[in-house]
Amino acid sequence: MQEAGKMVAGPFLDFPSSRACWHPLFFLALEALLTGSSWSCPSRCHCSSQDRSVFCNRRRLTTVPGGIPPESELLDLSKNRIRTLHQGMFSRLQPLKELDLSENIISNIEPGAFNSLQKLMTLRLKSNQLKIVPPGIFTGLPNLTILDISENKIVIFLDHSFKDLFNLRRLEAGDNHLVFISPQAFSGLLRLQQLTLERCNLTGVPQLALAQLRHLVELRFKVLSIRALHNYAFQRLRRLDVLEIERWPFLATLEPHSLSGLNLTSLAITKCNLSTIPYEAFRHLAYLRFLDLSYNPISVIHGKRLSDLLRLQEFHLSGGRLTTIATSAFQGLNYFRLLNVSGNALRTLEEGVFHSVGNLEILRLDRNPLACDCRLLWIIRRRRRLSFGGQQPACASPTTVKGKVFKDFSDVLLPSHFTCRKSNIPDKTPQWVSVQEGGKATLTCRGEGDPHPTIYWVSPHNIRLDSNHKGHVRVLADGTLEIDYTLAQDSGAYQCVASNAAGNDTLVVHLRVDNGIPIQPSTGSRLITSAWIPTTRGTGSNFNRSETFPPPLIDVGTLVGVLAMGFLPFLSSVSVCFVFIFFWSKSKGKVKHHATFEFVPHYSHASWNKPRGGGSKFAMKLM
Ligand SMILES: *[C@@H]1O[C@H](CO)[C@@H](O)[C@H](O)[C@H]1NC(C)=O
Ligand SMILES: *[C@@H]1O[C@H](CO)[C@@H](O)[C@H](O)[C@H]1NC(C)=O
Ligand SMILES: *[C@@H]1O[C@H](CO)[C@@H](O)[C@H](O)[C@H]1NC(C)=O
Ligand SMILES: *[C@@H]1O[C@H](CO)[C@@H](O)[C@H](O)[C@H]1NC(C)=O
Ligand SMILES: *[C@@H]1O[C@H](CO)[C@@H](O)[C@H](O)[C@H]1NC(C)=O
Ligand SMILES: *[C@@H]1O[C@H](CO)[C@@H](O)[C@H](O)[C@H]1NC(C)=O
Ligand SMILES: *[C@@H]1O[C@H](CO)[C@@H](O)[C@H](O)[C@H]1NC(C)=O
Repeated sequence: MQEAGKMVAGPFLDFPSSRACWHPLFFLALEALLTGSSWSCPSRCHCSSQDRSVFCNRRRLTTVPGGIPPESELLDLSKNRIRTLHQGMFSRLQPLKELDLSENIISNIEPGAFNSLQKLMTLRLKSNQLKIVPPGIFTGLPNLTILDISENKIVIFLDHSFKDLFNLRRLEAGDNHLVFISPQAFSGLLRLQQLTLERCNLTGVPQLALAQLRHLVELRFKVLSIRALHNYAFQRLRRLDVLEIERWPFLATLEPHSLSGLNLTSLAITKCNLSTIPYEAFRHLAYLRFLDLSYNPISVIHGKRLSDLLRLQEFHLSGGRLTTIATSAFQGLNYFRLLNVSGNALRTLEEGVFHSVGNLEILRLDRNPLACDCRLLWIIRRRRRLSFGGQQPACASPTTVKGKVFKDFSDVLLPSHFTCRKSNIPDKTPQWVSVQEGGKATLTCRGEGDPHPTIYWVSPHNIRLDSNHKGHVRVLADGTLEIDYTLAQDSGAYQCVASNAAGNDTLVVHLRVDNGIPIQPSTGSRLITSAWIPTTRGTGSNFNRSETFPPPLIDVGTLVGVLAMGFLPFLSSVSVCFVFIFFWSKSKGKVKHHATFEFVPHYSHASWNKPRGGGSKFAMKLM
């Protein structure tokens, strides 16, 4: 029956020459028979009585044609040349539910133009020449649920522009020249659920206007030149579920509270200029399931920073600049099932990144320069259970398997591929480095292995120093540890750890910082130096007497004098002891030939000596 209605208009309109054989009266009669009601159609339109639809698109109409059946529910007047909508223009068409006026040249809508359309649910005014939405033009549309005014030339939304549309659910307002949305512009849109604003000239989020939309569920902002999302940009949108921000090429900052007040399940911030993941702004989104940050110049996903997103299931960051997904990046995410990081600069993706790989279903890892070593073995082992989203990852190295996709590795040959070589520090002889206080110390450590090991150091105070460490202590890319302006307390044993997926190797380098007292080869100082034998060997020894080294505070003569004076009472007390022990041993009748005395020397390198476990020893032969 539906088809019958369509057949009427088709041949009749498109082939006027065939009018002779397909006489309209014949069809009208047929139709009346089929539907049991009278149904006329304007001569330039095409009607379907079954759907109560009238299609008058592309007819060069400048106004609403006469003769539209009054019971029509859908009227399509798109792609015509209508310029003005007059008051009462549609008053005869009260049953209308959908009116399409897209792609005309409408620049003027008189107030009350839609007055009688109590049942209208969809109104399309897309792609016209509207410059303003005067308050009152949408009155008399109590049932309107969808309004599309995109692709017009509207510059401003005035207060109460949409005042009487209390049933509106969806507003499409993209592709206008909007520069300003007045705070009360959306007042009265009590049921609005979806709002799309794109290609506008807005310079900030219209937060006051948005705050009116208490029932908004989906908000889409596309192609805007806003540079930052400021704190509290989306206040009072408690029902908002989906937020999409796309193609804001200047957006570089999300302030920590920019999303506060929202409880989203889906968030996309794509094709923007974010260089780091705004973890702080996301933290409170405990119900988030879908997060898309694709096409942002983000290079790192840090460890443990997303763990507050407890219900996250999908994370997309394709087309970024990712080089690192740190261990535990998705820690705590029990429901995580999809990772999409195609088109980045990742060389690897370790199993430890995930909370549990058991739940992972889809992994898009294609278009990354993957190093096919033991770190990717877990993926290869799961390759039949895991979906690659239709795009097989391929190896970029080692050269023997370059370009080979994961599905082409046979199980038999796997043990010879995807292997690693444990990290190794070739020269493991302990090293000593000496430096003047205030100077710069350079401790070297070179590791090798496959993958190339990362190097970190453990300080004498047991602090881990790696390339992220900031301040006067740095670990350079080649593993060298540099300490600017050394202090006495920097002295001690530094452990270098070369670490890769296959294992660790270590080396100890001792650093001694002299605190400004030059050592002279005199009687007094010989005792001091005997406590520490500098071995200047290997590349690790790098004695840097820089200009910043402070001048000696005491002159050498005074120092030797003071030490000598301190030494005399010491010697005399040792002699007394010696005499005492001598007599005591004689009285016991047993002769001890050796005695060992321990003493802690009185110079200020105590901090250097302590870690060595005590003072120097004096061995004596007893008579
Ligand atoms: C508005 O639309 C609903 C269907 O969504 C319909 O049931 C109702 O009768 C309409 N109201 C009026 C006044 O036509
Ligand atoms: C909006 O921006 C576009 C492109 O940048 C520009 O051509 C247009 O003139 C702007 N409109 C207004 C009203 O500022
Ligand atoms: C994106 O950010 C970088 C700095 O992070 C800046 O150099 C670049 O100009 C920005 N691009 C745009 C389009 O603003
Ligand atoms: C956040 O949204 C979820 C469902 O999406 C809902 O269950 C939860 O109660 C909401 N939380 C708050 C504080 O509104
Ligand atoms: C991964 O992201 C790209 C780009 O956003 C998208 O085209 C693709 O559909 C995504 N893949 C999956 C499996 O979601
Ligand atoms: C290497 O060291 C890291 C921490 O520095 C440790 O987590 C890892 O288990 C070690 N690997 C081996 C094989 O010892
Ligand atoms: C010594 O330190 C100075 C200043 O920090 C630096 O310019 C110089 O290259 C260092 N020399 C050596 C051998 O490290």
